Amino acid sequence: PRKIIIDTDPGQDDAAAIMLALGSPELDILGITTVAGNVPLERTSTNARIILEFCSRPEVKVFAGADRPIARPLITAEHVHGKTGLDGPELHEPQMPLQAQHAVDFIVETLKREPAGTVTLCTLGPLTNIALALKKAPEIAGRVRELVMMGGGFFEGGNITPAAEFNVYVDPEAAAAVFKAGIPIVMMPLDVTHKVLTLKSRVEKLRAIGSRPAKALVEMLDFFERFDVEKYGSDGGPLHDPTVIAYLLKPELFAGRNCNVEVETASPLTVGMTVVDWWQVTGRNHNALVMKDVDADGFFALLTERVGRL
Ligand code: BDR
Ligand code: CA
Repeated sequence: PRKIIIDTDPGQDDAAAIMLALGSPELDILGITTVAGNVPLERTSTNARIILEFCSRPEVKVFAGADRPIARPLITAEHVHGKTGLDGPELHEPQMPLQAQHAVDFIVETLKREPAGTVTLCTLGPLTNIALALKKAPEIAGRVRELVMMGGGFFEGGNITPAAEFNVYVDPEAAAAVFKAGIPIVMMPLDVTHKVLTLKSRVEKLRAIGSRPAKALVEMLDFFERFDVEKYGSDGGPLHDPTVIAYLLKPELFAGRNCNVEVETASPLTVGMTVVDWWQVTGRNHNALVMKDVDADGFFALLTERVGRL
């Protein structure tokens, strides 16, 4: 199986991503690292363990990472995810321990230990931990097989400011460092994730599974979608983060282009914007495979089938 580290700030859609990975035998989860994002670090570290316990997988190790962005105060998203970040189901206190090792050290150590080109980084939150790991041990950049990230937006614009997507906006310095690191990057921007909506018909199929993890996930999604449904009159919520895991399982669900991507870190108006050279109008190097389209029904069929195995 393909070795992955999931770096995350759960988040209901992060939970869906983690469940999709747990239900997929093609993937070997070496560890889950948490970062401050949707909610503060203490809460994302608790939430990651709650998700694992919903799935009866307490042997998967969770490492807490950065509690704030590299150069800015933390911005959180309780307005979308609720007070706990995982609002919806009844939440318990996790029984499984948090690992003592810092997430950044775990990432560095794992990439140095495993054979070069075998570990994939899946990032579902701000890129703080990855940027700190690269700063600490720049040589790991050449050892990463691929970094698949949920973040950014281009034709679609932003979701936290008109220009910026949340994960990049929270820590633009970290995102800028990651795009410059020379790692093969696959980017799942809002242009993709706004196409995978939790339509009623899709959620009903998840509900029909009836297992404990499926029930918890559906309760999370019922809460999560209300933000977009109430604010935008949309038919469901965008299920951002599981697109990262779906790409590893079925890349043919997605279509995109190799492009140059740069992150704005200075302008107050557009900070956190991912400037994607989609039309190849600069001579700048291609540093990411930027996705734009997705087979949404195929994506939900995959998610449903895999959550059904948990
Ligand atoms: C991203 O921000 C978070 O709120 C979600 O979990 C997702 O990772 C979408 O902009
Ligand atoms: Ca997330």
